[in-house]
Parts: sequence; structure tokens; C-alpha cells
Amino acid sequence: MASRKGSHQSRGNGDKYSVLLPTYNERENLPLIVWLLVKYFGESGYNYEIIVIDDGSPDGTLEVAEQLQKIYGEDKILLRPRAKKLGLGTAYIHGIKHATGNYVFIMDADLSHHVISNLFEFIRNREGGYDLVSGTRYRGDGGVYGWDLRRKLISRGANYVTQVLLRPGASDLTGSFRLYKKEVLESLVERCVSKGYVFQMEMIVRARQGNYTIGEVPISFVDRVYGESKLGGNEIVSFLKGLLTLFATT
Ligand code: GDD
Ligand code: MN
Repeated sequence: MASRKGSHQSRGNGDKYSVLLPTYNERENLPLIVWLLVKYFGESGYNYEIIVIDDGSPDGTLEVAEQLQKIYGEDKILLRPRAKKLGLGTAYIHGIKHATGNYVFIMDADLSHHVISNLFEFIRNREGGYDLVSGTRYRGDGGVYGWDLRRKLISRGANYVTQVLLRPGASDLTGSFRLYKKEVLESLVERCVSKGYVFQMEMIVRARQGNYTIGEVPISFVDRVYGESKLGGNEIVSFLKGLLTLFATT
């Protein structure tokens, strides 16, 4: 096999990866994450597209995305904006509708997920036959850096309570660096009712119900440098509501 670096031949036998990047006020972060994706996908020879789902960011993220589209091309950077902030979960659902790849990556646009070290590890796992590959901060070499105690407790607590109530048996239920087979993603989304951050957890629970196979890649999550987190108290309340709904109905 040709070496990955420097090889611009097409790889993956017609496979195409759609990367969904939901953004809300990510003007500073978007150029770098897009540059990294273009660089690493470009060098790998895998076919790809990047779909930016901006929710009417007041900081001008969409204008930045338009510039990036001019630089890298309309076939590589797709813009699928919405008029206002409608939530992270529905942003993915909106993006999927426009994805032309047969595999779909989801990741945060604020560089908390390290594209460089993990991209090909996800793809290797996927090629190993998993329906979905989930980045995990809570297994092996995985971890979280830069969060205060409050935020660590929220994340650990959400994972722990969900494990106890629903026993989905994956180590990181709320993470958002994942790779799905497109048709698996579509069928899970059809069954999903969540609109906000709780979406990630529901997707793993639904995947277990549907007997889909889940691969895990340990990842380091590093808190953002630019901008701020959009996870607020109302997202925590929605998480608990979503969890109890799932507990009552499954
Ligand atoms: N389009 C859109 N609409 N994008 C959004 C919205 C929204 O309503 N809310 C957040 N985003 C985007 C952000 O711009 C960023 O690219 C990504 O979604 C993650 O948002 P952050 O606000 O940076 O999340 P976080 O760092 O606090 O939370 C991380 O950890 C959570 C818990 O483990 C994320 O990885 C979450 O997905 C994860 O659930
Ligand atoms: Mn973040």
C-alpha cells in the first residue's frame, strides 16, 4: 500500500467522508480546524467534504466560512446555515440531510478534538467493521484537559447516571467526536427525539438498542482557547429530562 503522507491517490475504494462542523460563534476557530481537515484528508487521498452548519452566529462565523469556501472550493466546503441558534442536536440532523458521503464524522469546531492524532485511528476502526466509532475520554489514554472541577463533575455525573439507569455499556456517552456509517446515522436520527447536547447520549443508547457495533478510540479533549462553551444550565436540565424520558420509555 502507498504510504499515507504525500500520496494523493484516491483511497478507500470510492468511500467518502462527510465532516459535520456545527458552529455558533467560532470565527477564530473555524479557519484552523478547516485547514487541518483539508490538509490531513487531502494528504490521505480519502475523498471528503466539510459541512459547516452555522446557526446565525452574531460574530460573523458564516462570513468566515464563505471565505474558506472560496479558498478550498465549493465541492470541499459546504455551507448549510440556519437563521438562528436551534441547538446542537438538530444542527447535526440538518447537516446529515446534505451529506453526500457514505461515512459521516461529527466533531466540535473549536479544536477541542485533535484531528491530527485521531482522524486515521477512527478510520482504521471503521474499516475494522464497526457501525459507529466513538471517541472516548473515559478509557485507556483518553482524558480531559482544561476543565474546572464543576465541568468535570457535570460530564462524569452525566455519564455515571446514564450508565446506571440505561446501561448502554459504552465508556463515553456524551462525547461528540464520532464516525458513523451514513445509513446507521440516518436510522438512529430517525428514532432520536433530543434537540440539544443530550443528542449524543441518546444516539449511543439508540445504537445499543439497535444492536449496532460500537468501536471506541481514546481521545484527549482539550478545552477551547478561543471563544466560550455554549453548554449552559438549560442544557443540563434538558439532559436530565432526556435521560428520564429514555428511562421511562426503553
Ligand atoms: N450550529 C450550532 N448550533 N452549533 C452549536 C450550537 C448550536 O446551537 N451549540 C454549540 N454548537 C457548536 C459549537 O460552536 C462547537 O463547535 C460545538 O458545537 C461544541 O460546542 P461547545 O460549546 O464548545 O461545547 P463544550 O466544549 O462545552 O462541550 C463539549 O463537551 C460536551 C460534553 O462532553 C462538546 O464536545 C459537547 O458536544 C459535549 O456534549
Ligand atoms: Mn468546546
